Formats: sequence, C-alpha cells, structure tokens
Amino acid sequence: MFDDKKVIFSGMQATGSITLGNYLGALKNWVKLNEEYTCLYSVVDLHSITVRQDPAELRKRSRALLMQYIAAGLDPEKNIIYYQSHVSGHAELGWILNCYTYMGELNRMTQFKDKAAKHTDNINAGLYTYPALMAADILLYQTDVVPVGSDQKQHLEITRDIALRFNNIYGDVFTIPEPYIGKEGARIMSLQEPEKKMSKSDENANASIYLLDDPELIKKKFKRAVTDSDNAIAYSVDKPGIKNLIDIYCSFTGESTDSAVAIFEGKGYGNLKAIVGDTVAEGLRPIQEKFKELSQNSDYIDSIIKANAEKANYMAQKTLRKVKKKIGLPQ
Ligand code: TYM
Repeated sequence: MFDDKKVIFSGMQATGSITLGNYLGALKNWVKLNEEYTCLYSVVDLHSITVRQDPAELRKRSRALLMQYIAAGLDPEKNIIYYQSHVSGHAELGWILNCYTYMGELNRMTQFKDKAAKHTDNINAGLYTYPALMAADILLYQTDVVPVGSDQKQHLEITRDIALRFNNIYGDVFTIPEPYIGKEGARIMSLQEPEKKMSKSDENANASIYLLDDPELIKKKFKRAVTDSDNAIAYSVDKPGIKNLIDIYCSFTGESTDSAVAIFEGKGYGNLKAIVGDTVAEGLRPIQEKFKELSQNSDYIDSIIKANAEKANYMAQKTLRKVKKKIGLPQ
C-alpha cells in the first residue's frame, strides 16, 4: 500500500446529499485515477461544522457519503476511504498551518465570501480559516495530485502557497500538490439557474440532481431544466442551459462536445432534455443499486471505517512528526 506510487488526496463535505456536480466534477475522476496512485478520499466532517449542523443528521450524512464513495466504484481495500475527524493529524497540522497563513490571503477566498454572505448569523473563525485546514488535509499525506471541481482552484492555490512558504523556511518538508481538474464536468451548473453552479445547499429541489435520486425524479428534473427561447442547439456561453446539458451528456457518455452537438442538432430542446435525463438516470442506476447493497452490510462498512482510519493515521503521523521537529516542538 505505501509503495512509491504518487499520492492522491481529495474530499467532500458531508453537508446535504452529493450532487451531480460533486459526482462529475470530483468523484467520477477519483474512480478513474484510483488504480495508478495511492489514494486517500476523506469525508471532511471537520470542514462541515464550519456551518451549523444537526448532530444526528451530520452523523447520518457522513456515513452515507462514505458509502457513496464506495458505491461509485472506489474499492475501500485499495483506496483509503475515511472520516477526517478519525485522524487527529488533520486538526493538528491545521492549527500549525494557521500560523503560516496570512489574513490577507484568507480575505481573498471566494468560498468564504459566499458562505459568510449566506450564513450572516454564524461567520465563525473556522469558516474563515477553512483553507488552512484544507491545506493540512492535502499536505499531511505528501499529496501529489488533488482531483477537484474548478470551484476549488483557489483553495489549491493557497495550499501551494502555504506549502512553498513553509518549505522556504524549513527545507523540503511538503510535496507541492497539483490540482487535477477534469475537462468535462469541472463546473456543472444549476438546472434552474444555469448561470449558477449546482450546489448541495440549493433550496430549489429542481435545481440539483442528487446521486441517490430516484430515476423517474431525475428524468422529471431534466424535463424541467431551464434553457432559453430560441430552440437551436449550440455549445456556447450565451446558452448556459444548453451548454450545461451537453456537458452532462458528454461526461456520462465520453462523447466530445462537437459530436454531441451533431447528435442533437435539429432535434429540439424537449428531445435533448429527455435523452440527457435518460442517460443520467441509467448512468447512476448501478451506483444506486450498489448503495442499497452496502446499506444492508453495516458490519462491513464499520470494518472499512476502522481499518482505513488506521492506514491514514499511519501516513499522517509520518508527516506530522517531521513538521513538529522542524518547527521546534519538543520531542
Ligand atoms: P465540496 O464538498 O463543496 O465539493 C466536493 C467536490 O465536488 C466539486 N464540486 C463540483 N464540481 C463540478 N460542478 C459543481 N457544480 C460542483 N460542486 C462541487 C468540488 O470542486 C469538490 O471537488 N473544500 C472542499 C472539500 C475539501 C477538500 C479538501 C477537497 C476539504 N479538504 C482537500 C480537496 C482536498 C469542498 O468544499 O468541496
């Protein structure tokens, strides 16, 4: 397991069900990359509490998210799938990196600005220093590659800046990670407001497709997708609704945008929505079946959670020991 393969780390917050955006922007690529690398995929539950959570719900969603990783095709014997809070090294390195992160840098983070605007009654310090904990997630494992959607690019840049700053002071401590942002699916948009990204927290139930949505519901949501009024199929930024549907179709089928446009040309929007809806419903069906199967195997999931936390912890401690020594904490 801890051979000389390069390392991948990525994670998702356990807030709400996982969307088609999370799947196409991240999880699908994780599955694609999982053979060639040593992979750690975390349910980043410590990040989730930067927004107020119902405790029972958080516990339930964290477990469901971990099971969706497996259901989507990640083999938990080969990939380290675990809860961030089960490896205390994340919080420890997170604190240390807070001391190497500037407020000026944090002030620029768009995710902080968006979330602060949404949760005006709870703009807490954790929400603000979120990127330092995210940097810790990544740097803790000497990660080479971080597969994410394009909205996380800024967080990856600050991670690299923190790592370079640290290395400049103390020598080669951290591997400098590279983002991996897929060509298709890097930014899936809302089905109702296609100029906005699809988000777990959208209040409009028709705006997002969830991985565990019933196939009929998926088709219905696509039928209701907002497009535009000219009925001509083209892949263009001026037609965000159509562009989004074509992106989703291409992500599932592997078709290029040009050939997708050729397939749909002259067929009308109704047809496009129906075909994309069918493609997604069918594409997600095996994941949903696997999820059901896993739901009946609680002991197996428990054993995965335990064994993988141990593996992650082992790797984390190696980096943490090095960091503590370098900065002068007593041994
Ligand atoms: P989160 O939980 O918001 O999203 C998880 C992953 O899904 C991607 N994503 C999207 N991709 C395409 N289209 C969309 N509409 C869309 N919405 C979300 C995100 O880019 C992400 O890859 N800060 C992270 C979680 C995190 C993390 C990490 C990620 C914590 N530590 C370390 C990587 C490495 C977040 O909030 O993702």
